[in-house]
Amino acid sequence: MNYDFDRVIDRTGTSSVKWDRYEGRDVLPFWLADMEFACAPAILRAMEERLRHPIYGYSTPSKELYDAILTYLREEKGVPAEAEWLVWLPGIVPALGAFCRAYTRTGDGVMYSTPVYPQFPANPVNSRMRPVNVPLLREGMNYSFDWNGMRNAAHAARLLMLCNPQNPVGKIHSREDLERLAEFCERNDMLLCSDEIHCDIVLEPGMKHTSILAIERARERSILLMSPSKTFNTPGLFFAFAAIPNKPLREAFKRVLRGSYEWVNIFGMEAARAAYAECGEWRAQLTGYLRGNRDFMRSFVKTNLPELTMGPCHSTYVAWLDARSLGVEKPAKFFEEAGVGVSDGADYGESGMIRLNYACPRAMLEAGLRRMQTAVEELRATKEKAGACSIAM
Ligand SMILES: Cc1ncc(COP(=O)(O)O)c(C=O)c1O
Repeated sequence: MNYDFDRVIDRTGTSSVKWDRYEGRDVLPFWLADMEFACAPAILRAMEERLRHPIYGYSTPSKELYDAILTYLREEKGVPAEAEWLVWLPGIVPALGAFCRAYTRTGDGVMYSTPVYPQFPANPVNSRMRPVNVPLLREGMNYSFDWNGMRNAAHAARLLMLCNPQNPVGKIHSREDLERLAEFCERNDMLLCSDEIHCDIVLEPGMKHTSILAIERARERSILLMSPSKTFNTPGLFFAFAAIPNKPLREAFKRVLRGSYEWVNIFGMEAARAAYAECGEWRAQLTGYLRGNRDFMRSFVKTNLPELTMGPCHSTYVAWLDARSLGVEKPAKFFEEAGVGVSDGADYGESGMIRLNYACPRAMLEAGLRRMQTAVEELRATKEKAGACSIAM
């Protein structure tokens, strides 16, 4: 079956965070990380079936859900997962906070590397830890770990938070780098939390995501956070999970969760089971469509928006662009005023950059890019005019 990712779906009146930010304004939203695509039919079917039973009481994960997730972890990720490793969560963000609180004392350091999802710096601060940021090194639009910087800062950190693939730069950290991270954490007695929410959207042919739990050396000091919500477009269902092989670490993590949430959303569980067990083909077609959008955008930017430089975007569905050559103080604001809502790179730790979510029908992406082109052409014309005036004076 061919799935229709070109279908434009009106989300007006659905309380969408992404669209409602611009309610009443002619701004196309490309900021928040959810997709403009309908869920896979198997997910809709699973939820419809559960919906038909009229009681929505507290529920526990089914054997089928365990099986689907364990099979996925073992067969796709090469992680020798056991049922008892799994901890159910309403989302990754609360788990980042729980990770900080479970293993530290007030004031301990938590290391991470920007540019990164803003909850990475926010959670240590909210949990009264000390954020220890060692920014990725940048060469052109390629990023890599600053091993020297990390070594120098290690004495100040008890935990390390990894984003793999890394939002917003789309980097898939290599197996070699993960081995090295495992060794680094071992040497410095640090625990590692790997947020792999974007791991199933790998756009670059020949590339593969490696989970932290596929690295044997990392297993006893790592917690893995995963969710089907990005790949299968279900973030409003609030379902995620952690896999924690080390029992004392798992118990400490669970203790922190106790009292906050014990059970997860029934529809989230149904959707997750269907996603992992039945939606492989849908995911493959989604990835192909997103790759097409990324390549379309890259060639559009090169031809029509040469002031912008687009990163490699090996993974995730967000483009990371250097907009400093535009010469405007706040590029995200500039594009928003032109009717295109993008994320401000400053929120991820690098100002002058913007992030654009291209998980939408190609027609919407093209409409947004054309608006950006018009705005940049007008900016160019204004600059040329100003230049001509100053020469004439
Ligand atoms: C790296 C990363 N982690 C976590 C989240 C959010 O996860 P959740 O909605 O499960 O809290 C996002 C959302 O964009 C993300 O990019």
